[in-house]
Amino acid sequence: MPSFDTLPSADGLWTGLRSLDGQPCTIAVQDGRIAWTGAPDAMPAAHAGLPRHAGQGALVTPGLVDCHTHLVYGGQRANEFAMRLAGASYEEVAKAGGGIVSSVRATRAASEDELFASASARLRSLLAEGVCAIEVKSGYGLALEHERKQLRVARRLASAHGVTVRTTFLGAHALPPEFQGRSQDYIDLVCREMLPALHLEGLVDAVDVFCERIAFSLAETEQVFQAAQALGIPVKLHAEQLSDMGGAQLAARYGALSCDHIEHLSQEGVDAMAAAGTVAVLLPGAYYTLRDTQLPPIAALRAAGVPMAVSTDHNPGTSPALSLLLMANMACTLFRLTVPEAIAGITTHAARALGLQETHGSIAAGRPANFVLWDLNDAAELAYWFGQRPVRTVVRQGRIAEGSV
Ligand code: NIG
Ligand code: FE
Repeated sequence: MPSFDTLPSADGLWTGLRSLDGQPCTIAVQDGRIAWTGAPDAMPAAHAGLPRHAGQGALVTPGLVDCHTHLVYGGQRANEFAMRLAGASYEEVAKAGGGIVSSVRATRAASEDELFASASARLRSLLAEGVCAIEVKSGYGLALEHERKQLRVARRLASAHGVTVRTTFLGAHALPPEFQGRSQDYIDLVCREMLPALHLEGLVDAVDVFCERIAFSLAETEQVFQAAQALGIPVKLHAEQLSDMGGAQLAARYGALSCDHIEHLSQEGVDAMAAAGTVAVLLPGAYYTLRDTQLPPIAALRAAGVPMAVSTDHNPGTSPALSLLLMANMACTLFRLTVPEAIAGITTHAARALGLQETHGSIAAGRPANFVLWDLNDAAELAYWFGQRPVRTVVRQGRIAEGSV
């Protein structure tokens, strides 16, 4: 793998492109940023002399944004897949000592370099498909040194692969085995020691909690949100995945960036999210893996104007998915999103779920150059094909990172 800094610069004039609405489009890149974009005949003369990259009719989209992943972990959990095939539920697997806690054992046992190597391999699949920004959560360490290890790996991924990474501290993902029966003690540790220390080290861009019967209560979630708020860190929530806990209303009160999963979200939750401007992050990979039958309330979210994002939720338990386009396809097929909704879900709305709406998720002057050229005729094909990678070229952080022209 060549180091990211040695990849060719994307500076120049990208011509012969077609935008999502089918119109001809040109992008001028200077010093790694988009200097101008628009219809070819409207281009200012100042850009005319730039060296050219011929798009040859390629469809162009913003760089994709994967806004919910647990990418850094040790081991894998194919054995649980087999258990579920034999009839066990996700909750039963967790109660039998599997689930999140089994990834915690493997993550604690892994060195930082080992975690970096395994996460890099997974990240490469996502990048090859056009991902230019990604969220990475902790939550498989559940002790200060191991949560730190995960978040440090996330930062290393950003510099090694030239990808924007937003780190999310998910210390309240599961109760670590050594705190069995002492949930409150663990939440105190998360709030008083782990979060402040990791924040001081610059490792925390957002804070998340798994609010669920098998994880943390509403009151425990609020305690973590208060700790985050006191440090000025934005929050998000694994909310209403297996049951309606009222987590979305709580998250909305704290101005959450997003509520994620939300299969069991109530109308009150939808309304609270709409009022707070909280993004709904849909995770069809987990829905599919768990053979869930409770659909997220798409029509209510749409009617209330809640922005909907779509993400892989990549994790070893419920969504070992490494294709964001497949998630877009599944969001359409399983959740009945329209194709434009699915595309917004993996670009603009996903960027907003990470607080990156000013820099990522759309193609506009002044932003870092992140865009993807596709070998597709029609924008609808982005969500139509699955199991192939119709990428021609990825421009990531101002460099030609995948493919060529
Ligand atoms: O997003 N819901 C909680 N957390 C993960 C699953 C983690 C695991 O099973 O390892 C999720 O689905
Ligand atoms: Fe998750």
